[in-house]
Amino acid sequence: MDASTESLARQWLQAARHMLILTGAGVSAESGVPTFRDALTGLWARFNPEDLATEAAYRDHPGLVWDWYEMRRDMVRAVAPNPAHLAIAQWAAARPDKVTLVTQNVDGLHQQAGSEHVIELHGNLFRNSWLHGCGRCEAHRSDVTHPPSCTACGALLRPAVVWFGEDLPRVALYRAQHAAETADVCLVVGTSGLVYPAAGLPGRAKAAGARVIVVNSQPSALDATADAVLQAPAGECLPRLLAL
Ligand code: OAD
Repeated sequence: MDASTESLARQWLQAARHMLILTGAGVSAESGVPTFRDALTGLWARFNPEDLATEAAYRDHPGLVWDWYEMRRDMVRAVAPNPAHLAIAQWAAARPDKVTLVTQNVDGLHQQAGSEHVIELHGNLFRNSWLHGCGRCEAHRSDVTHPPSCTACGALLRPAVVWFGEDLPRVALYRAQHAAETADVCLVVGTSGLVYPAAGLPGRAKAAGARVIVVNSQPSALDATADAVLQAPAGECLPRLLAL
């Protein structure tokens, strides 16, 4: 990586009045979080994500899909935040109200590292919601069924993550877009930039006048939008880039 590009990016970050940080799977890679596909090993190798992460799949095979998420939860419980998560948390803590952290990850590692007010565009693996519930499901929750269900209306409990074909949580997306439009620097970490609407945020920030910095160990679809590309593992680069 070019040291002068990194030092320029650091100057922009230090001068930023408001900054948007957008993260993807790459920020958790050095923690050892298995990707969607990596979690399809062993017993699960014969499935496609599309066979597991849709509402239709859940309705057809609720026990199977629930068990897959339980297995992913166990995998993520076994890992810890890495220096990239920690560097982001410390940087934001030192600049109250100047940083909006938006993640596509569902692993909760930013929060574990100490980040607050994280905008989760794709939900969180450790929360559940009700699949078309009656509004009073929690009061009637049965843990006897597999997956748990509502004894009043029969709705199933489901992981509160965004499945294929579903919209992103509206408030989270609105807040992320607003942050993009008001940021003067947008730091993008470990995302392929292929999945919209999240992938559109750096372009939105740039159109509103922000400088865009991309940190990725590989070339990404967002490099063309970037004012600075730092090709390096996030766990190595961010502690330098965001040193206090
Ligand atoms: P991807 O798996 O598409 O891309 C991960 C990116 O991280 C790639 O560009 C890698 O080069 C980069 N990367 C890997 N290791 C890295 C490291 N140590 N340091 C820096 N970068 C590294 O993941 P996302 O872009 O997050 O959606 O994918 C976006 C969405 O697609 C996910 O949130 C998920 C998926 O379908 C939903 O679940 C709705």
